[in-house]
Amino acid sequence: MSATAPSARAPRILSGMQPTSDSLHLGNYLGALLNWVQLQDEFDAYYFVADLHALTVPTDPAVLRHRTRVTAAQFIAGGVDPLRSAVFCQSHVTEHAELGWVMNCLTAEGEARRMTQFKDKVAKGHNANVGLLTYPMLMAADILMYDAVYVPVGEDQRQHLEITRDLAERFNTRYAADTLVVPQPYILKGSAKIMDLTDPNAKMSGSTSPDKGLILLSDPDARIAKKIRSAVTDTEAEVRFDPETKAGISNLLVIHSALSGTPIPELEARFAGQGYGVFKNEVAAVVVEAVTPFRTRMSELLDDPAELDRLIAMGADRAREVAQATMARVRAAVGLLPAARL
Ligand code: TYM
Repeated sequence: MSATAPSARAPRILSGMQPTSDSLHLGNYLGALLNWVQLQDEFDAYYFVADLHALTVPTDPAVLRHRTRVTAAQFIAGGVDPLRSAVFCQSHVTEHAELGWVMNCLTAEGEARRMTQFKDKVAKGHNANVGLLTYPMLMAADILMYDAVYVPVGEDQRQHLEITRDLAERFNTRYAADTLVVPQPYILKGSAKIMDLTDPNAKMSGSTSPDKGLILLSDPDARIAKKIRSAVTDTEAEVRFDPETKAGISNLLVIHSALSGTPIPELEARFAGQGYGVFKNEVAAVVVEAVTPFRTRMSELLDDPAELDRLIAMGADRAREVAQATMARVRAAVGLLPAARL
């Protein structure tokens, strides 16, 4: 079995997810993973587990290793085909850290401190390390390494993509025109921000949402149904899309529509006069139907860690080839002395 990209000449896309919890959640799935799966037909796709980024939050080493495997297994269980798209770990392609350093050296300290995610974490009293400050520069390196034309992500990553574009342009202006490709974000309108079920004004987040606010892709059916039935809504009884005044119901409409493919106006019409209970039961059924085959495939993959590791190694081999070519261009452009061959 060998890696078969759709076409070596198809434009490249890249995206990643952090292995920061024991499972991806519905926001990761609807905001990013579903797009990854669709885009792999058209593009030469690189999808990785951002294990170096995960080190910005101290984690037990065995737990990090487990979560890294689970995240890769969930990419594949969600429909990423490891024979068409490169599925790999960021740390297996050491060029990421190297290009990350070059990006650090292009970034002003104040610019890094102004990034919203860093400011928010510091404001919340998070004991921030320097890795958290330079997190966006490593992310820029991840993207620029592959000449990615699109980066399919959720809305919360928009600022990171803006700084990536700035850094690519800065590099090209300072060193050598057209060395790095300036990427475009690929953020879907509808499901780019799935909200916390207990607080529909906050995004569903593996690190900050309470368990009841999150639907984990590994949750058993009964837990999914219970979480959706107890989702915070409003005091009316009308199933209507209005994110301003009906954030909870609107979030459930987005989830239903993204998974069932039914347009939101059709759902509003179907549930007119039926009350929230009936609607929530159907949302729960739609989510369970989507997640059940996913869970089965995920446990099959995790039952054979050697095969999973082999798929990840195959992805890293493919990624490394591109990364080495990019780093050769970058090293030459910035003026690092080539090592003589002995
Ligand atoms: P991470 O691991 O937080 O999230 C992974 C992906 O899931 C999306 N997402 C959501 N989408 C909709 N609704 C939500 N509630 C929701 N929560 C998360 C995120 O937008 C993301 O697409 N910095 C990145 C990881 C990363 C990366 C990269 C991504 C590192 N290097 C290079 C793209 C390219 C992150 O922490 O994502």
